[in-house]
Amino acid sequence: MNTPRIFGTPLAPNATKVMLLGSGELGKEVIIALQRLGVEVIAVDRYPNAPGHQVAHRAHVINMTDGAALAALIEQEQPDLVVPEIEAIATDALAALEQAGKITCIPTARAAQLTMNREGIRRLAAETLGLATSPYRFASSLTELQAATAEIGFPCVIKPVMSSSGKGQSKIDSAAEVAAAWDYAAAGSRVDAGRVIVEGFIDFDYEITLLTVRSIGADGQIQTQFCDPIGHVQVQGDYVESWQPCAMQPLALERAREIAAKVTADLGGLGLFGVELFVKGDMVWFSEVSPRPHDTGMVTMATQVQSEFELHAKAILGLPVNVTLRTPGASAVIYGQHDAVGIAFEGVAAALAVPGSDIRLFGKPESFARRRMGVALASAADVDTARQHAKQAAALVQPRRAK
Ligand SMILES: Nc1ncnc2c1ncn2[C@@H]1O[C@H](COP(=O)(O)OP(=O)(O)O)[C@@H](O)[C@H]1O
Ligand SMILES: [Mg+2]
Repeated sequence: MNTPRIFGTPLAPNATKVMLLGSGELGKEVIIALQRLGVEVIAVDRYPNAPGHQVAHRAHVINMTDGAALAALIEQEQPDLVVPEIEAIATDALAALEQAGKITCIPTARAAQLTMNREGIRRLAAETLGLATSPYRFASSLTELQAATAEIGFPCVIKPVMSSSGKGQSKIDSAAEVAAAWDYAAAGSRVDAGRVIVEGFIDFDYEITLLTVRSIGADGQIQTQFCDPIGHVQVQGDYVESWQPCAMQPLALERAREIAAKVTADLGGLGLFGVELFVKGDMVWFSEVSPRPHDTGMVTMATQVQSEFELHAKAILGLPVNVTLRTPGASAVIYGQHDAVGIAFEGVAAALAVPGSDIRLFGKPESFARRRMGVALASAADVDTARQHAKQAAALVQPRRAK
């Protein structure tokens, strides 16, 4: 593994350079953590002035699904590490560069390839690693989907194989809804508009993200550590609220850790992973995994000694990490509420007057009604109070059209 052993000076010939592919709100925080360690950071996104662009040494705007453009930029910048922050990138190009010994991709190019497509990670988890998952089928046409849903039964969940944040995803209760779900998936798909996964609906008690970190330990070997579980609520497949710690029965927690250890060991490399799991009593199902910080993990900015972003930054640089929980806490999403460029936020002072609260505004140039523009955080003596305060703070922030 090619981790920098000596740290240079940013913008000097010996700089330790990290390139972020994707520079949204999660990338922005990873960049800030890297900046604090004197790393030179190159932020890449598909549009100008993305959140991470605003805090990096250099910013580039390219189509990251274009392998040639990606390879040319990497050749120009010569980063020590390439860090995918989103799924929609030309991961085959990254794999070729990694294979040729030209880049170190975080955690591995294979992990980026497998997780950008629901089919890759689901087949690995269920068929290769034997992890418990929802029952599933894949379909590439409406006819195939009709057959697949008949086999899986109802209710079931239909998702494009390439999508995130709930885009194109629907839960249906009968055969009559299949055609509409197919059309909705095609419209919400990122790349291949023609393929979906259908999953049996899991009637879970609650769902968690188990942040799992692979870092180099004191003995020089890779070690795996787990943060306290994060509970979250999703609306239409998109996270609206999260909290940490999420209370779990010991057996369920043990099973969750076993699953997370298995899947992250197979994906390999260094860094933080967000392992998504469904829990019902003592039963735990693997849902999916991000080989990078997770949106529900923004709560760790309020709760942990080292946030998930700091953990990722340190782990990928080969440095030791500390996954200790500092305090219970919660996060609540602040949506744009308007489709407009250059919106304004009122009520920030009122939000920060809520006990134990904090705010992040991501600085996205363009707002959409359901676009995540910021997050409210809160710490408290217990999770229930923290959740209440985070939601209260989020509601006090009022996005307005620019005047
Ligand atoms: N098979 C399922 N059974 C029950 N709920 C599901 C299922 N699949 C997805 N969900 C719900 O939808 C959310 C988003 O689904 P997920 O597969 O994580 O998509 P994304 O990649 O968009 O995050 C999950 O966190 C969960 O709340
Ligand atoms: Mg998810």
